[in-house]
Amino acid sequence: MKITVVGTGYVGLVSGTCFAETGNSVTCVDIDKNKIEKLSSGAITIYEPGLEKIFLRNLKERRLNFTTNLAEAVKDAQIIFLALPTPPGEDGSADLKYVLGVAKDLGKILQPTEYKVIVDKSTVPVGTAEKVKNAVLQSGKEINVDLSKAFSVVSNPEFLREGVAVDDFMKPDRVVIGTDSEKAKKIMGDLYAPFVRQGNPVIYMDEKSAELTKYAANSFLATKISFMNEIAQLCEKLGADVDLVRKGVGSDERIGKRFLFPGIGYGGSCFPKDVQALVKSAEEANYDFKILKAVEDVNEKQKLHLMPKIEKYFKNNLQGKHFALWGLAFKPNTDDIREAPALYMIDALTAAGATITAYDPEAMPNVKKIVGDKISFANNEYEALNNADALIIATEWSEFRTPDFEIINNKLKNKVIFDGRNVFEVKQIKDLGYHYESIGRA
Ligand SMILES: NC(=O)c1ccc[n+]([C@@H]2O[C@H](COP(=O)([O-])OP(=O)(O)OC[C@H]3O[C@@H](n4cnc5c(N)ncnc54)[C@H](O)[C@@H]3O)[C@@H](O)[C@H]2O)c1
Repeated sequence: MKITVVGTGYVGLVSGTCFAETGNSVTCVDIDKNKIEKLSSGAITIYEPGLEKIFLRNLKERRLNFTTNLAEAVKDAQIIFLALPTPPGEDGSADLKYVLGVAKDLGKILQPTEYKVIVDKSTVPVGTAEKVKNAVLQSGKEINVDLSKAFSVVSNPEFLREGVAVDDFMKPDRVVIGTDSEKAKKIMGDLYAPFVRQGNPVIYMDEKSAELTKYAANSFLATKISFMNEIAQLCEKLGADVDLVRKGVGSDERIGKRFLFPGIGYGGSCFPKDVQALVKSAEEANYDFKILKAVEDVNEKQKLHLMPKIEKYFKNNLQGKHFALWGLAFKPNTDDIREAPALYMIDALTAAGATITAYDPEAMPNVKKIVGDKISFANNEYEALNNADALIIATEWSEFRTPDFEIINNKLKNKVIFDGRNVFEVKQIKDLGYHYESIGRA
């Protein structure tokens, strides 16, 4: 099939590459000229395990193309994916200006006799498919073109996780397709058939239910995290161990083992904004979504959960103290730092007069763009420890899990570790003579 993907960020680039990998001819469009030039010349723009190899293969075999020209890109396409940003507006609701802007552009480009499927892959509030449809129709009307038979709009939310995005896309747990058009349903079913050969379901539904499914899924996962973070707080107060509680709880099949790990809060481009947007959508529908408001509130506080522990250890005086910070990305295996708890730690520590040397395997260039020379950066995790009064861990990269403690001992000024991701076993670290503070464990 011929496919256009509009928006070549995390979702657009992964989707476009994976669709090309199954034999489709894909053109990715973006307004960012620099990004398109890089991608066209074979330089990948995001870090995502396994992506570069298939990106280069499909680029070489010309199944994957890049352009800034929307009209050219959609000319022969049967399916047009919108993988555009939906950032929170000032009131927390999803800002649809990118999605509706492209919908209007499409209204000026589409031909009345050539049927195409327009697919919302962005995470969008209930009712957006209808808005996209109206925007395309209206825009066509303005130039006297009747597009009422020229397209269907489908809601096909994306569930990939950064860090394992290629695997998630190639073998999704499920594919959700929201449409009332039989024709669009058939085209989408054919497109996704190679991705669900192992029997995972393609779930067809109406557009509104598909749109809500994505928000409900992310909000539920965020709820699990905030719930466990509150259990961890309680563990600290009552002297219980959250690792043991987690195992005890997670062995119940109704609950499941995943997403029960406490830490310094969730971040990223999805959970924070999707929880906020669902709270706002509920508000607009005159519904007070109490649980989700609490989920958000708990998460905001959790990002700085280590600060009182650090302050207490240093007797409320962080002026002139120097910290090694391991991990900047909002989670391992990505260079994405959107809403990363590490950024909140950087702000709080520097505001208190401390200095920081950070190390992250992938995310340092992105952080440099934001914080400039507010902190310094190291070439590896050990170099970050030079002259540090303590080590703080903000992201659980695998390479941090079994470090050489002899090097750590020699470099750290004090044997002190504040671990926001429960990377180490408590007993192991304490036996090594460390003052060790983590989340929800004595
Ligand atoms: N990142 C994730 O893990 C993830 C997972 C599932 C769903 N989503 C959702 O997918 C959507 C996209 O997220 P993302 O993380 O890929 O965003 P992103 O910011 O990484 O990428 C968006 C891209 O769209 C481009 N763009 C903006 N306006 C454009 C226009 N008019 N024409 C062409 N390109 C334009 C931007 O330049 C950027 O490259 C969001 O709604 C997000 O909530 C994201």
